[in-house]
Parts: sequence; structure tokens; C-alpha cells
Amino acid sequence: MEKYLNKGIKAVITEFPAIGAILDGYNIGCTLCGVGTCLLKDIVQVHNLSPEDEHSLMARISSVIYPDREVEMSFTPSVNAAPKPRSITYSPPMQGLVDEHTVIKRVLAMIPVIIETLDVSRYDDRRLVLDTVDFIRSYADKYHHAKEEEILFKEFDPNLEMVKVFNEDHMIGRGHVKAILEGLEKNDNQSVKEHLIGYRELLTGHIKREDEVLYPWMDRNLSITQVGSLSAMFTDVDRQFMDVREKQEAFVNRLEETNKFEEVR
Ligand SMILES: [Fe+2]
Ligand SMILES: [Fe+2]
Repeated sequence: MEKYLNKGIKAVITEFPAIGAILDGYNIGCTLCGVGTCLLKDIVQVHNLSPEDEHSLMARISSVIYPDREVEMSFTPSVNAAPKPRSITYSPPMQGLVDEHTVIKRVLAMIPVIIETLDVSRYDDRRLVLDTVDFIRSYADKYHHAKEEEILFKEFDPNLEMVKVFNEDHMIGRGHVKAILEGLEKNDNQSVKEHLIGYRELLTGHIKREDEVLYPWMDRNLSITQVGSLSAMFTDVDRQFMDVREKQEAFVNRLEETNKFEEVR
């Protein structure tokens, strides 16, 4: 069993597809993760299952891997394991990031509306795509993702698979943005649409995993001193990006108003 505990989750699910369904049943969405290099043992620990759930999950996984024998689990429940909270309470700096996600999700929710009638040969449609890209680059990336990459993630070991996976999502997102701009240059309507949707799908899953898994796990592993210093550093960044935040929040409001769209929170 030890060799599977130290194996990437995607490889484990590929070898034993039933394990993907079992994890889904515990609200652990590894089947939706595009990277899947987290180790099986880490997956179980970071999701903050109760010791009972952790034990029953591991028993079910081991019965899939070794259907013919009773396996004695050498896995010990994580020290930080606690009963799963009904709703997640974040530290103040983490709550700030979650609030920024809410703004980003409002734009993600508008992407299907934007592409519905998109024709990049029309000036207004090109303008709308460029404004959306400007939001993604300045608010989602230079402001929010930079806070994660340059401040929050630096509090943790950069070799942790958990951290690498989220950094990699940011890189893939930048690839979609580059492709959207190339599509505009070539007047390639289809490619612009595909990469807007690709970005939406990527960020939707990424934000959900940050809100539900990564941030709570980080909060459990940060000391009070670290939380205090994160708060101070985030406040500094918030001040520097005051203009960007005002401009882009106004853009989101306009976007929703123009399309008579309900806010997604
Ligand atoms: Fe992120
Ligand atoms: Fe984020």
C-alpha cells in the first residue's frame, strides 16, 4: 500500500478508476484536476476529513487496490485532522483572497454570454474581449495571482505538489490569455471563443479548489505571526492596486448591467 500512498493521484486513478468515484463521494475532486501530481497520502491529509472519514476512505481505497486481501493500513490519521466544518472560516488575509475570487467569478459567469454572439470582426466585440483580457491580466493575474505567488505561496515549501499544481494553473491561464490575443490578431473567432471558455473552465475549478481545499489547509498550517505578516503585506498590495481594483470592479458592474445579468456570488 505504501507505494500507492506515495504515487501521484492521477496515476492511481488511471490504474484504478473506481478510486476517482470514491474520492468524488468525499467531495475530493481529483478527477477534475488537470494536473493530478499530488500524492495519494497528501490528498487524504489536506482535505481535513474527520479521523473516521479518513479511515473509512482509506479502507475503501485499499479494498479497490487489494480486492482479495484484508490490508492493514500503515497510514496514520493526520495530526491536524478535525471534524469537517459546516462552513469554512478563513483568516482575514485568506478571506480577502476569497472576496477577490467572488469578483473574478462574476467575470467568469459572463464569458458564455460574451461568446454567444461574438464576432471579432466587429469593433464593439473586439473591444469587449480586450476589456475582458485587461480584467484578467490586471485584476486576476497581476493583482490576485501575484499576491498568491509572490506572498502567500512563499510561506510554504515550493517543492510541495499542492503549491506546484496551483502555480501551474496560473501558467496555463496565461497561455489562454496569450492565445485569445493571438486569435484577435488573426481574426480567428473560433479560437478566441475556445480560449475564453478554456480560461473559464480552468479558473472555475482552480478557484473552487483554492476556496475549499488549499486556503483552509494553508490556514491550518500558518502560525498567528505568519497570518499577521500576510495581512500587512496584502494591505500594502491592496493600496498599490487601489486604481486597478476600482477600474476593474466598475468594468464588472458595467458588464453585468449591459447584459442584464445577475451577479454570481
Ligand atoms: Fe490561484
Ligand atoms: Fe486565487
